[in-house]
Amino acid sequence: MAEGRLRTFVGGLDTRMEGGIPEKYVTLICGRAGTMKSTLAYYILFNNAKIKKKRGIYVTLEQTRVSLLEHMIKLGMDTQTLADSGSGIVVIDMTRLRKETKAKTVREDINWVDSIIQTVDSYRMKYSCDILVLDSLAALYSLATFSNPRSDIFFFFERLRELDMSVIIISEMLDPDKELFGMFGVEDFLADGIIHLDLEKSGRRVNLFLSVFKMRKTNHDRSYYPLMFDGTKFEIITD
Ligand SMILES: Nc1ncnc2c1ncn2[C@@H]1O[C@H](COP(=O)(O)OP(=O)(O)OP(=O)(O)O)[C@@H](O)[C@H]1O
Ligand SMILES: [Mg+2]
Repeated sequence: MAEGRLRTFVGGLDTRMEGGIPEKYVTLICGRAGTMKSTLAYYILFNNAKIKKKRGIYVTLEQTRVSLLEHMIKLGMDTQTLADSGSGIVVIDMTRLRKETKAKTVREDINWVDSIIQTVDSYRMKYSCDILVLDSLAALYSLATFSNPRSDIFFFFERLRELDMSVIIISEMLDPDKELFGMFGVEDFLADGIIHLDLEKSGRRVNLFLSVFKMRKTNHDRSYYPLMFDGTKFEIITD
């Protein structure tokens, strides 16, 4: 495998993108509700911790830490099994801060962008973390006040890049038919990479597909490959 790439460990995928996502990229994992975005992002962190001994940070703004970890343990990703490997995943639960803020009368007290960046940066330094997952962009938008969204999002992405980590941002697509990967239409060109998860109904079955829609400095195709999850491992079907 090429150096300087963040492996996804999705069977069949890394070899189709020169070994993985270039390190230090800001990549969006996009899809409508329930397309396994969170699971895939956590899977990338988990396998990089387990196999590459890289530490990761998972910032959750939507699902509580307990709910997230319970889900991941069910899918065979128990961080307890990483305990001896000298690596792991730090889950930062910002839903708590969200609830506490809601209880207050003055909601604007918190600068969410600053608070996320500062919290991540302190854990990054403390535990030498290489990878960051932010779940999700839609949740951030519902909290932070972006008076000028296009430039505010630009500066948010710049600050994420300054962290000097590989960054995965989960972006929920509200209207997948429009192929709008973020809410404001700027996220897709600000991101270095886009992985799109899409559901397709065929008869009574609903199948999940994955496409590497965009990946800068990478030779890849844009096919939508069936994405399978067998309970522990993701795999794309390439025939
Ligand atoms: N083995 C499996 N194969 C396919 N789908 C599964 C499997 N196990 C669970 N799921 C589905 O995955 C969904 C949850 O995945 P996940 O939370 O990662 O999705 P998400 O895209 O992040 O969802 P949300 O939009 O709610 O944040 C569950 O709703 C469940 O239906
Ligand atoms: Mg999710």
